[in-house]
Amino acid sequence: MTIVNSIEELFAQTAQFNGSIGFVPTMGALHEGHLSLIRQARKNNDFVVVSIFVNPTQFLEGEDLDAYPRKEEADAKICELAGVDVLFMPNTKMMYEADELSITAPAIRGFILEGTKRPSHFDGMLQVVMKLLNLIAYNKPTAFRAYFGKKDAQQLALIMQMVKNYFINVDVVPCDIVRDSDGLALSSRNVYLSKEERIKALALSRSLKKATELVMQKEFKVEVIKEAMFEVLNEVDVEYVALVNRQFQALDEVEIGNTIILVAGVVGTTRLIDNLWI
Ligand code: PAJ
Repeated sequence: MTIVNSIEELFAQTAQFNGSIGFVPTMGALHEGHLSLIRQARKNNDFVVVSIFVNPTQFLEGEDLDAYPRKEEADAKICELAGVDVLFMPNTKMMYEADELSITAPAIRGFILEGTKRPSHFDGMLQVVMKLLNLIAYNKPTAFRAYFGKKDAQQLALIMQMVKNYFINVDVVPCDIVRDSDGLALSSRNVYLSKEERIKALALSRSLKKATELVMQKEFKVEVIKEAMFEVLNEVDVEYVALVNRQFQALDEVEIGNTIILVAGVVGTTRLIDNLWI
């Protein structure tokens, strides 16, 4: 594995690639969720590139940009063991200049749910993903695939829309959510949770399980499902519970094969999200 810290070094590496590239963008503090994306990329491509960049433009004022876990050495080891070819770790200076043009998330889908709670987060996220996709594919690989987790369902949907709207030549591959054995969806932010908070945080995945049970009993009414989920979430400071279709439009009734159930809440001082695709 080659670690590259500059755009010139990255281009020198990708110029030698003679096949497909699987790309996994991350902000580091890698866990099994990230690894599952890397493994899929490894399985289906000739070359695998992972990026680690804690992107400042997607953090809002007062969010955890400075505290965000940084574990460069451990991350590099994980990537090496997973068979990554190139690990790209740029810094802010090489990724941004002072007076940049920007990308704005779509007015409807970009400003509901996470978009309401974290205004401008998606603008910065889309901006950096656009940059990274352009950088990794700069030397025109024979095929270019980028791997994203369903854990960040709205992020995934917006990236797919950006790729479509801007005619970016990449296949976006959605990957399943990886959970701990107790059900908690893996997240780099889980390290912020104390033991007691972790137990409280399990209510998020439990509320989704409750929703599945109801759907399996043929209860499709969104209001009923939401109410049952709120009951399970009684110890969580819930930000939203939502049932939307794959286009992120609100539903009154669950549509099997076209529904995402999303939940977001704060436990202690940690903001957590989770979702389920049915
Ligand atoms: P980060 O939070 O590091 O996540 C990198 C990728 O890993 C994302 O596609 C995310 O959905 C996926 N992921 C995280 N936890 C997962 C889990 N438990 N199961 C499956 N996949 C999981 O998302 C970002 O970084 C950034 O916004 C980024 C896209 C890199 C742009 O800065």
